[in-house]
Amino acid sequence: MKMLVTGGAGFVGSHVAEYFLKKGWEVVIYDNLSRGELLKKEIRHLDYNWRYLKENFDRVTFFKEDIRDMKRLMEAMEGVQVIVHAAAQTAVTVSVEDPHPDFTVNALGTFNVLEAARKLGLKPTVIYCSTNKVYGDNVNKIKVIEGDKRYSFPEEYKLGIPEDFPVDLCEHTPYGCSKLTGDLYMQDYAHLYGFKVGVFRMSCIYGTRQFGVEDQGWVAHFVISTLLDRPITIYGDGKQVRDVLYVEDLVRAFEKFIESDVSHGVYNTGGGPDNTLSLLELLDMLEKLTGKRTEVRFSDWRPSDQRVYISRIEKIKEELGWEPCISPEEGVKRLVEWVEENKNLFE
Ligand SMILES: NC(=O)c1ccc[n+]([C@@H]2O[C@H](COP(=O)([O-])OP(=O)(O)OC[C@H]3O[C@@H](n4cnc5c(N)ncnc54)[C@H](O)[C@@H]3O)[C@@H](O)[C@H]2O)c1
Repeated sequence: MKMLVTGGAGFVGSHVAEYFLKKGWEVVIYDNLSRGELLKKEIRHLDYNWRYLKENFDRVTFFKEDIRDMKRLMEAMEGVQVIVHAAAQTAVTVSVEDPHPDFTVNALGTFNVLEAARKLGLKPTVIYCSTNKVYGDNVNKIKVIEGDKRYSFPEEYKLGIPEDFPVDLCEHTPYGCSKLTGDLYMQDYAHLYGFKVGVFRMSCIYGTRQFGVEDQGWVAHFVISTLLDRPITIYGDGKQVRDVLYVEDLVRAFEKFIESDVSHGVYNTGGGPDNTLSLLELLDMLEKLTGKRTEVRFSDWRPSDQRVYISRIEKIKEELGWEPCISPEEGVKRLVEWVEENKNLFE
């Protein structure tokens, strides 16, 4: 079996690639290494994830290309049965500062991935890394309950946000709009052209080899900052809550979809109500794990930041027979150990 992973030199994409390479698949990585622009000078080894794959596996090849280049995409896609589309401009903040590249990468780039497959006459299985941000500010219309260290949803949403939660009539940020555009095109290519499409509206994914920065990847950003004694700025009061999902659990969900009989589906995907963390709780957890508490500064809320987001994972459990296995305690411990062993990457 052969798989194309766009964004395969990134965090999620490289874990997908590793998992299927271990199972004997042939994997084509398609990535322009632009995560580097977001990381600026914070991390020196910008192609770390690609080098990790190359050094450990044989059946992996690399196209250092942009998903906005349809011709190269079509070349890379030749003969693949499965496409995992993880490439994206991933930061809400960047999308607000400069919405044009956010649109061309996330909306047009996603369209290109689908069109390249259609033009080649493929009927592939496609996994789309969508996001909880498609629900935009509608999530903030839910009246949350304020506790000492966290906000929580009222009883009505105790299982989390379902897939039929409204996506319109609210603010989104350009990132939310561009990812939702891709999400809708994915669903349409399933209906119109018979692609087997899994749209995974992901909450907060974390794990090893994640180069989290202030703009994206907060769990890894907090771990890296704590271990390197760097100050952290919290936007808002730190009581905002996310359901967190360890990256290996996410990849198992993708595998379940690939192996299933489901023709297409949209799934809210995260740790669900049993695996949630507020920013302040993560700081407490890190103090227990490392004995360190780094300096924290507070600043204004960011636009459309959701006070609480928890995925309702009933549908994915039922249709794909999947559920998260790795608790936040275990996952954060693994991430702490990885950063400890690889401090040189961040110095
Ligand atoms: N990590 C999360 O918590 C999370 C949550 C929700 C959704 N997502 C989505 O999951 C996907 C993967 O996110 P990640 O956390 O692994 O981010 P990442 O930045 O580590 O990976 C994205 C990769 O895409 C590449 N890329 C960006 N623009 C490109 C382009 N024009 N052409 C080719 N490659 C390009 C980057 O170089 C990077 O390697 C993204 O689509 C993101 O929107 C992530």
